[in-house]
Amino acid sequence: MTRAYDIVKKDPHRVIIFDTTLRDGEQSPGCAMNLEEKLKMARLLDELGVDVIEAGFPIASPGDFEAVNEIARIVKNATVCGLARAKPGDIEAAGESIKPAASKRIHTFISTSPLHMKHKLKMGPNAVIEAVHESVTLARKYTDDVEWSAEDGSRTEDDFLCQCVETAINAGARTINIPDTVGYAIPHEFAARIQMLFNRVPNIDKAIISVHCHNDLGLAVANSLAGVNAGARQIECTINGIGERAGNAALEEIVMALRTRHDLMPFRNNIETTKIMKASRTLSNITGFGVQPNKAIVGANAFAHASGIHQDGMLKNANTYEIMTPESVGLTESKLVMSKHSGRHAFRKKLEELGFELGDNALNDAFARFKNLADRKREIFEDDLIALVEDEVIRENETIRFVSLQVVAGTTGPQTADLVVTVNGEQKQAKVEGNGPVDAIFKAIRAIVPHEGARLKLYQVHAVTGGTDAQAEVSVRLEENAKTVNGQGADADTLVASARAYIHALNKLMVKRSSVNPQTGETDAAASG
Ligand code: KIV
Ligand code: ZN
Repeated sequence: MTRAYDIVKKDPHRVIIFDTTLRDGEQSPGCAMNLEEKLKMARLLDELGVDVIEAGFPIASPGDFEAVNEIARIVKNATVCGLARAKPGDIEAAGESIKPAASKRIHTFISTSPLHMKHKLKMGPNAVIEAVHESVTLARKYTDDVEWSAEDGSRTEDDFLCQCVETAINAGARTINIPDTVGYAIPHEFAARIQMLFNRVPNIDKAIISVHCHNDLGLAVANSLAGVNAGARQIECTINGIGERAGNAALEEIVMALRTRHDLMPFRNNIETTKIMKASRTLSNITGFGVQPNKAIVGANAFAHASGIHQDGMLKNANTYEIMTPESVGLTESKLVMSKHSGRHAFRKKLEELGFELGDNALNDAFARFKNLADRKREIFEDDLIALVEDEVIRENETIRFVSLQVVAGTTGPQTADLVVTVNGEQKQAKVEGNGPVDAIFKAIRAIVPHEGARLKLYQVHAVTGGTDAQAEVSVRLEENAKTVNGQGADADTLVASARAYIHALNKLMVKRSSVNPQTGETDAAASG
């Protein structure tokens, strides 16, 4: 059988956690990630303990194919899944891309609601049934682990849904996914639909039923849990709930609800919950998609107790106002680790403990930045080192590199940025006035590397730790020709971090339009006439 099917058959209370951050999440506007970022997230998801990683939609582009293929190579524990429409080309691409994985799945889907079949597919019910049979049969040639989805399943007629599900299982699908594609379902209604499938589909015991809920009415998590109570044993979800429109069901909310209310939902999963915060922060850093402060589980206020009455209760007994501990989701005080007296050897050792292995050059640069930071910041925490080193790692292969920055800010302007960078190793400088220091810095970058077509879509600052001497972590999003890139920068000086973040995003933009000359901003074709 398949890994997931075996797990659930052995333990009927086990729920498979299927993460689609890198597919449904990544395809939503502003969440695009490059290969390195996808690999980093895939490693974290694997460590987190998700059962299945939906790594992408391989037919979408060569970049998507490569990402799924690389993820299939590096993932150690999870099943790696590629998405495919009910088309031979899609299924072949998915099958090829997941080949290196130890455990591999193809997820193929087709719309089944009257609305989608008529207006989107322009296919009748018989043709859809045939496509279900053919797509699953072809997918089974690549792997035993085939998942079939009824897109817009929550708005599909019961009789037809049963027919499609029975056909998919007969063709060899071992997971049947019922998406609430447009986030329209209500929990008791969605549960009844899942229950209906168990009551009416004769071969239902040969597959796991899965739920995939969108959050348009804010009910994605509630619908997913209702589905599980009705017998589903796979939940499809994303970190921070990112995904199309209002997003998908949030993994962290599902997992913590199952854990906290085990009394009512006696189900098990494989998630190491103490790794949730790290996955959430890394994702919002990569995508520049901040988490709202009052977001359940991972929001900045999720474990903060502001009112006097609550604080008093917490001091007497934490259970008065806390239904789960901050430690259970990995929210711990960042550890104090080093000081300005720490040497290079101790620095390297600490980085190894934190999971970083830097080459000699990157290590030298990171150590110089650490010494500089330690001169300015009294206490260096683990989170400071992580921010600093991650900043160094993302810059390793950059064409445009930050060198130095002097800024005039404050009430007696003009606010001016004097910026030095290297472009392909050649030093360039610009001194530019702006409407405030950040504007001046970004204009200076534009003066050195023209990129008129790109628009700034996001500029966001976070503090890495507490205190006024905390390092700033800045995210910048640029958009050009409907393509977006996100850049990050970290430094004790917010303005330096801003310059680094913008330069990081610009480097990524240059890679996206690889034939562009970074000095002139022109394409090779245009430059050569
Ligand atoms: O929301 C949806 O219907 C999907 C399918 C591709 C599973 O994402
Ligand atoms: Zn979806």
